[in-house]
Amino acid sequence: MNSVTVRVPAKVNLQLAVGPLRDDGYHDLVNVFHAVSLFDEVTAAAETGMSVRVEGESADQVPEDDDNLAIRAAVALARHAGRSYGVSLAIRKAIPVAGGMAGGSADAAAALVACNELWGLGLPLEDLMEIAADLGSDVPFALLGGTAVGTGRGERLTPLEAAGPFHWVFALADGGLSTAKVYAECDRIRAEEGLPVAEPRAAGALLAALRDGDAKALGAELTNDLQRAALRLRPSLAATLEAGRGHGALGALVSGSGPTCAFLAASAAHAGELAGALRGAGVAREVLTAHGPVPGPAVV
Ligand code: C5P
Repeated sequence: MNSVTVRVPAKVNLQLAVGPLRDDGYHDLVNVFHAVSLFDEVTAAAETGMSVRVEGESADQVPEDDDNLAIRAAVALARHAGRSYGVSLAIRKAIPVAGGMAGGSADAAAALVACNELWGLGLPLEDLMEIAADLGSDVPFALLGGTAVGTGRGERLTPLEAAGPFHWVFALADGGLSTAKVYAECDRIRAEEGLPVAEPRAAGALLAALRDGDAKALGAELTNDLQRAALRLRPSLAATLEAGRGHGALGALVSGSGPTCAFLAASAAHAGELAGALRGAGVAREVLTAHGPVPGPAVV
């Protein structure tokens, strides 16, 4: 086999409950991940060394060296297999970069799947999941897809029943937000308030809405503990969220650490109307529609 191409979806967080800061610098989470139909494509081709090229949406903001999460994934997989494999990775991006939609994690997950195939390793998902958890908190979910709740750092996953399809509109912002900085801002806000931080818990009503495919109920239950921090770092997002609510979104929230804003619509037609209204309001760099849940990475 000379090359393998894997298509991998973005995610939005339906509930992101952030617990107190842990001694290791991470936070315990309850993180309800939902994979949506916005895809990156990663092609792995046989080569002696390791290299990566990135094209598409904001490609100039993605490193093309050893810092690239997809290359780190390939290196980690070769190390796991105990062999000095090489690969040339080509990433075609559609998922916004540093946008709170786990684009980098998706590329890492796709690289694991593609290299596992290219190198004929035949490792089971379980092994890839372990490597994924070392690469980043969101990489295990990017391997899984669908809808799942993540605990611990977000890497301990339980798949959830979700009826769907749910129809989404995503408002992309100029520039990204650093996940670490948004978590740090969240800690700062909490320190200023001086209130105790509760252990994160999954919202029963949200899980029921997912199970029933009830978009209206789901819209009312969307929550993100990082949202206030993202809004403090990027105050213009308040107007974006307000515009979506004003145009009839069933729910509106910052996706993960932002700055992408996610809006739940009642139907595909409603998502199209809402997207048009948001474009007209001039509150986003670009507006996209998608549906979820969708399956995880797949060889194409
Ligand atoms: O795991 P990952 O490298 O994606 O995390 C990026 C940053 O996000 C971490 O360095 C940490 O600052 C923050 N984070 C956190 N708690 C989590 C996940 C991420 O504080 N559960």
